[in-house]
Amino acid sequence: MPIGTYYFTKGFLWGTATAAQQVEGRNFNNTWSAWEQEDGRILEGGKAGLACDWWGGRWREDFDRAQAASQNAHRLSIEWSRIQPAPDRWDEEALDHYREMLIGLRERKMTPMVTLHHFSEPLWLAEMGGWENEAVCELFTAFVRKSVSALMPYCRLWVPINEPNVFAFNAYVEGVFPPGKQDVKAALLVLQHMVQAHARAYHVIHELQPEARVGTAIHYRGFQPATWLPVDRWAAKAHHKLFNESFTRALHDGVFDVVYKKAALPEAAGTQDFLGLNYYTNDHVRFNPLAPGAFFTRRFFPEGALLSETGMIAHAPGGLIDAVKWGYRFGVPMIITENGVDDGEDDLRPQYILEHLHALWQVINDNYPIEGYFHWTLVDNFEWERGWTQHFGLWGLDRETQARLRRPSAELYAEICRTNGISSSFVEKYAPQVMQTLFP
Ligand code: BGC
Repeated sequence: MPIGTYYFTKGFLWGTATAAQQVEGRNFNNTWSAWEQEDGRILEGGKAGLACDWWGGRWREDFDRAQAASQNAHRLSIEWSRIQPAPDRWDEEALDHYREMLIGLRERKMTPMVTLHHFSEPLWLAEMGGWENEAVCELFTAFVRKSVSALMPYCRLWVPINEPNVFAFNAYVEGVFPPGKQDVKAALLVLQHMVQAHARAYHVIHELQPEARVGTAIHYRGFQPATWLPVDRWAAKAHHKLFNESFTRALHDGVFDVVYKKAALPEAAGTQDFLGLNYYTNDHVRFNPLAPGAFFTRRFFPEGALLSETGMIAHAPGGLIDAVKWGYRFGVPMIITENGVDDGEDDLRPQYILEHLHALWQVINDNYPIEGYFHWTLVDNFEWERGWTQHFGLWGLDRETQARLRRPSAELYAEICRTNGISSSFVEKYAPQVMQTLFP
């Protein structure tokens, strides 16, 4: 059996990613805290509650954990509704709290990356029509200016908006995120406003901090035609264009061009210093004339695919290679800003991590510019409309006691971060079933 190590580049960022609403707890003034009060919105009636109690200070022990596990970076988000609890009020204490967290990361020799909008927003904004109201662009810019001014001594990697494509789709097409609409026209308007808001944020951040590096975190989903039929190929391509491409391309070209909506947004051109890719899985796509609401398609996982615990993710590491090759055309370095799997028993995760990182190593070896990898996520957290039913953490969480339970994957990922590579010995120990594939 061959023995060896696939090394990553020097200075590679290794971390995990989190989001405010999912880990902080005690958020009472945002769209998700209201959403979880409504019957039937969250699976099993789940509520974020204390979450991982980061607002109560448990970020310290989790950052200790991450540091002890050789992570040298962490991606977190800040909560708009805490920093701006009312349109005319800033909460300096909330900013102090985030400042302390970023200092905490630096003290642990971890590079922070800060997301400014990760699915949740203030209730007062929702009352004004949220992202459908163009005023949001101005309001978001003011929030970005305030927050970045306060936090820039400790951070230089910024993601203005996490997964605008998922947000627009889940909140305005599927209706599973607040405000729960099913209105394609509204979704496209929201996406356009997010392009405008990103562009403004980009310029404000650079005005405040010329050395800043700003990028989006786009959710890249692979769409493969289910058959060779031209209609299936058309359907897969249309999905790709709408979901993966529309937002990202607008930040490159300054043209927002999706379905029937076309707008010149020159201020958005060239507003990425890096491209963040959130990659989880691939879909197969079949044309379906009976599903206009689903853009005339049916999406599914191929038969025999290795599925995650709740069936939400099919193990498809090759899709990460496609994502990187696609992202390359935008001409900026890339960072994998999320990648992970729901797996409370840690059955699939070691293999998932190893095969995705091996795929990533391959493209790095082909000279694709990748600067880092953030695993989703550090500790089990509140998974949006799926509540507490999914377990994406390297550590599990006992919600009664707030105890963290280390999964084997936490050790595996620590070995990878520590050696800056994937060794055959890790594969043998944590996922021997892929030894032949990774070390033929
Ligand atoms: C989101 C995360 C989420 C993860 C797993 C991503 O699309 O950015 O907030 O927890 O998927 O569901």
